[in-house]
Amino acid sequence: MSQVKLIVSNWKMNLNISQARILTNKLKKIKIKKNLIKNIICPQFILLPIISNIIKDSDILLGAQDCHYRKFGAYTGDTSIELIKEIGCKYIIIGHSERREYKGETNDIIREKAELVISEKLKPIICIGETLEERKKNKYKKILEEQLNICIPNNLDEIIIAYEPIWSIGTGLVPTVDEIKEIKNFTCDFVSQSKKISKIFFLYGGSVNSENIFEIFKLSDVNGALIGGSSLKFEEINKILTFG
Ligand code: PGA
Repeated sequence: MSQVKLIVSNWKMNLNISQARILTNKLKKIKIKKNLIKNIICPQFILLPIISNIIKDSDILLGAQDCHYRKFGAYTGDTSIELIKEIGCKYIIIGHSERREYKGETNDIIREKAELVISEKLKPIICIGETLEERKKNKYKKILEEQLNICIPNNLDEIIIAYEPIWSIGTGLVPTVDEIKEIKNFTCDFVSQSKKISKIFFLYGGSVNSENIFEIFKLSDVNGALIGGSSLKFEEINKILTFG
């Protein structure tokens, strides 16, 4: 498996135009070891054309935070994959727990989105994760298996999966390295056997910061991180992107 780590900044519904410009221009100046890091940023939809223009002569890659599961049509307020692609996105976060919770996205919808993204030759970053209650009741593997089973299409060459325990997002609580490793092994075993996908990029997300990322990377052997809060602070993301 590749040694390159995917650092995915999920800006969520944050940053105005001028803040996003300033942060992106600073990110452009960071010297990244290209054989070690892929720097992917996922701004709000309205920021995408602006950021796309700023990064066009850099190694920064662009991602969207969601897309609709249909190619086009009467879906007021939604954004089509065609535009996301045209504006230069290479990645799309699919099934983030905030969309599952606030927009009622089900595993079936997430699979439809994943299939559309793949058919359009973009890369979905499919999010999975359990609640604290599901973990405490020891139901977490069942929940994760169901998410993986329904959300991930079969027979792909490769897939990016982001494990984000819901209890860890924005809370400062982070699973132990052994817990992350357990889910990585569980996910890779399940996806390679049931879905016949051999190349799996397993990302961890949830309260990642410049202090805990190195241990997570060193000890759990994940292929990258999906980063919310810390991706908005230049000092933090700078340290994360220049590790190693
Ligand atoms: P966080 O968010 O890093 O702020 O916990 C991660 C995410 O929701 O992708």
